[in-house]
Amino acid sequence: MKASSSPNIALIKYWGNRDEELRLPAADSVSMVLDTPTVEASVEASETWKIQSFHADGSDAPQSEKSIERLKKHWSLCISYLEGIGQTDLPSALKIDIRSGIPPAIGIASSAAVFSCLGEAYGALGKNLTREQVSILSRLGSGSAGRNSFGGYVALENHGNGIGSACGKQIASEAHWILHDIIIVPSREEKKVGSTEGHASAATSPLFAARINDIPRRMKECTDALLTKDFEKLQVISEEDALDMHRCMETQTPALHYLSEVTHSILRELEGVRKSDKLNVLYTMDAGPTVHLLCTEDSVRTVEDFAAAQKGCTVFKAKTGGGSKIVSL
Ligand code: PMV
Repeated sequence: MKASSSPNIALIKYWGNRDEELRLPAADSVSMVLDTPTVEASVEASETWKIQSFHADGSDAPQSEKSIERLKKHWSLCISYLEGIGQTDLPSALKIDIRSGIPPAIGIASSAAVFSCLGEAYGALGKNLTREQVSILSRLGSGSAGRNSFGGYVALENHGNGIGSACGKQIASEAHWILHDIIIVPSREEKKVGSTEGHASAATSPLFAARINDIPRRMKECTDALLTKDFEKLQVISEEDALDMHRCMETQTPALHYLSEVTHSILRELEGVRKSDKLNVLYTMDAGPTVHLLCTEDSVRTVEDFAAAQKGCTVFKAKTGGGSKIVSL
């Protein structure tokens, strides 16, 4: 079984869980699925665990003990879920080959791509799963991965309780609206605390409760903006949410400062340029200093030039994509 997937970029961010173990988010979120870079995973039943991973050029990308444990834990949660929906004959161990086309230096979290790729492959080990059920399998490895089982613009919504109570829902397909994502990666010096640890202390921020209460309004604004292709509305709501998530991260205990001086200077410069050049461009940042500049077709050339002029930064280009899929059975 071979599956492929890519990262996604959140417009209304997922930060904090209502259940850490089951990766059930504290609130809904929505993102745009990217068309590149791609991760491929081959999965088959095995007597014992065999996990291998490779870079795009075929060289070894050895997994740490911690990530091997996370992969095994993910499969055991998937078994619980799959058995709960009546699937049988699931192997207790797997042979997994992961080929990541995500260049290590570009600062795009690969966990959404990897776990949605595995979720897709695990879904095909079962029988007749819906896209929502595949999304749940992906989410059990990384919350944001649950937004990759559809293409285009995808929400992760909470419904009720239990292991299957948060899953992806497509807001609009990639054919509805193609946006570009010009990704500017500042050189990174600080050691990064991963989002799994970060989510676990999100609720210690005094701003967390207000954030969670306001997410339904933001989800509605964002969904309306996407459905009506209202870029200005999308810009206002997604920038508000990204900055609010970072304020929450920065005020939690221990505090997480993902944005660097370079990030802030890129944002200041961008605000000037977009005003003078009337650009349709919005910024958003996840758990790192990387700046994602989402823009429309008519603004992309100028945004690319802006990105190329950022000294000491690596630039990566993507656009709206189609989500995880099976490559071969
Ligand atoms: O899926 P995780 O556990 O890596 O969390 C992702 C968290 C953010 O990237 C910061 C926000 C998001 O919604 O993608």
